[in-house]
Amino acid sequence: MAKTIIISNRLPVKIEKNVDQLSYKPSEGGLATGLGSIYKQGENVWLGWPGLHLQKKEEREEVTKHLAKENMAPVFLTPQDISDYYEGFSNSTLWPNFHYFNQYAIYEQGLYNAYVSVNKKFCDEVIKLAQPDDIIWIHDYQLLLLPEMVRNKLPNVQIGFFLHIPFPSYEVFRLLPWRKELLHGMLGADLIGFHTYDDMRHFLSSVSRLVGFSNSEGLIDTGKRLIEVDSFPMGIDYERFSNAAASPKTIEQEIKYRTSLGDQQLILSIDRLDYSKGIPQRLLAFELFLERHPEYTQRVSLILIVVPSRDNVGKYQELKEEVDLLVGRINGNYGRINWTPIHYFYRSFSLEALSAFYRMAHVAMVTPMRDGMNLVCKEYIASRLDQKGVLILSEMAGASKELSDAILINPNNINQMVEAIYSALTMPEEEQVRHISVMQESLKRYNIHHWVKMFMQRLGYIKEMQKSLATKNLDTSAIKFVKKTYKNTKKRLLFLDYDGTLTGFKSNPQLSKPDQELLDLLAQLCEDPHNRVIIISGRDRQTLGAWIGHLPLDVVAEHGVWSREYGTEWTTVDTMVDTWKDEIRSTLELYVNRTPGSFIEEKDYSLVWHYRKVETGLGELRSRELSSHLKYLSTNKNLQVLEGDMVVEIKSAAVNKGKTALKWLRKFDHDFVLAIGDDWTDEDTFKVMPKDAFSVKVGSTSSAANYNIDSFKEVRAFLWELMR
Ligand code: UDP
Ligand code: G6P
Repeated sequence: MAKTIIISNRLPVKIEKNVDQLSYKPSEGGLATGLGSIYKQGENVWLGWPGLHLQKKEEREEVTKHLAKENMAPVFLTPQDISDYYEGFSNSTLWPNFHYFNQYAIYEQGLYNAYVSVNKKFCDEVIKLAQPDDIIWIHDYQLLLLPEMVRNKLPNVQIGFFLHIPFPSYEVFRLLPWRKELLHGMLGADLIGFHTYDDMRHFLSSVSRLVGFSNSEGLIDTGKRLIEVDSFPMGIDYERFSNAAASPKTIEQEIKYRTSLGDQQLILSIDRLDYSKGIPQRLLAFELFLERHPEYTQRVSLILIVVPSRDNVGKYQELKEEVDLLVGRINGNYGRINWTPIHYFYRSFSLEALSAFYRMAHVAMVTPMRDGMNLVCKEYIASRLDQKGVLILSEMAGASKELSDAILINPNNINQMVEAIYSALTMPEEEQVRHISVMQESLKRYNIHHWVKMFMQRLGYIKEMQKSLATKNLDTSAIKFVKKTYKNTKKRLLFLDYDGTLTGFKSNPQLSKPDQELLDLLAQLCEDPHNRVIIISGRDRQTLGAWIGHLPLDVVAEHGVWSREYGTEWTTVDTMVDTWKDEIRSTLELYVNRTPGSFIEEKDYSLVWHYRKVETGLGELRSRELSSHLKYLSTNKNLQVLEGDMVVEIKSAAVNKGKTALKWLRKFDHDFVLAIGDDWTDEDTFKVMPKDAFSVKVGSTSSAANYNIDSFKEVRAFLWELMR
């Protein structure tokens, strides 16, 4: 039976060793706690590092056996791996860069090499476990190279990848020396998921600028495979937290804590020790609050829970010292004999203890400088059984996109944080209930089960789509079949694209004039009274008119802006406007000035920037930059940016080849339809073809066409063969 293999650096349990005794504890961190309840179903298995170096073989065997009972399998790391791959490249290079702390990032080739080798280690373990019909679900930034590695070994397996931390803007990501390798690694997956739309947008922009793959609504066609990129905000196991909040053990804990603390209002802060979490900034805001609101002396305390994390990494050690100092200073300055402003715990807690804290806190302060999602804030909301309480949440946490009923703050704005604390402590109860209940509804619905379901559904869907886009080679037997149908039919429509389909590409588009063979071929096709030939092209109508206008065929120019049935005048679509052209032309001119060899082609309702004659590499680089620039400029203008073969074209979105082909299909009765094209503007034609049509893509990339053929030469031979 097919199973799901979950792979992450850290397993949901971590091993601890006391003298010679091994013990197993739940791991902290959003990924492990979030997916914790999912992997135990059926044959599923979770593969990851158990969090400790085990030197003895017997110990490793014992751990493997123990984990197998719980649907887990270990990947053991050496001390060198832990230092270079985990503490090094993962947490001293990728983590700071992805969280916009690039000043902390270390670039060292040796660390990257270790990252490659540990990703390979994970790959070997995956290959041992995986069957071809399994689903492989890879998680997080420690394993960015793994999707491609697994793909190389199991080309057809389903691979999903999810990033649990932010994906930075292109301007930050491009700083990494290994940026392209990392993107290629991720692109081994079929589905790539992020928490927020912004992360997804940043990733797509980096892929386009650095790798050269554009996308259409999140779908990337690499030429070999279609990949979907989407956002799936991760939810929590809502019931687990609401049930924990109602459990007798939790209530017992709460009573214990309450008795020791007294009855002041409580503000709760829970994070792993991490500079991305904004702990010092939060402490400074609390300190300023105490200074500005002396009336709160002895009336409010901050419970500061800091969970130890990555404590061998220098920046984390420095942060620990900073937090210790700040807590000491604030408690020293403001504390009283019977009141401690900050209750500071540097350790992790059991679920019941956490739940008791969530229950007790009047206010939760979750104010990271940057966070992929942040689950603590969601857990707090789920634990508020009486629907009272206030959440202060940073705009920089992915969760803020969903929890707009929280008091949202910018963690760099200390005054705003101080005001937020005051508003939270003074918020009337009805208002608290109103906000919490809205957030609870949303978190109940978009819980962790929903998240897994959505991700898996999309993964299945993209696999189906890949299958439907797989083309068959138009080989001899296929040609025989098409020919037989051709011979037996009398009302044929033949949609033929021009450049790349009937002729090859030339450095100057004006040199692609039809040669004698092509003119003969078209003339002969038109001679058959049962054929209606439609040349459906992106070229301007003047050129097409001059080149093939004398033949008895129909012509569609500028992707459908203009069309002409044989024997009639050119007509255009009523809604066409070209007022946008001046602004866009000046942008294109800027790129021509910067890119020797490039030039602009102007059509009635579109502008094209050509770079076939530009130095290799430079043209591609500029074209990506130009196309994202044009996409930005064209927002709300009903324009479409097309990246074709060595061209970037911008045109009205109101027309495309598909919409135009449909007009012919509706107007002319037919019993045989053939469409041939080579680039993605022809995909629109293929998509509107009737089920029994023959559609042929020139080139080997995936396509909505049913067949593919190598080049324009084979297209010509095929058309001659049909008529023979
Ligand atoms: N957590 C825990 N023990 C603790 C404190 C926190 O297991 O003592 C859990 C907490 O319940 C949450 C996770 O750690 O599920 C933290 O996830 P979050 O997404 O907020 O931050 P991350 O650590 O992933 O950056
Ligand atoms: C974040 C990351 C996880 C990581 C967790 C704990 O949630 O997204 O991948 O497991 O922090 O960090 P650690 O380094 O202890 O695994």
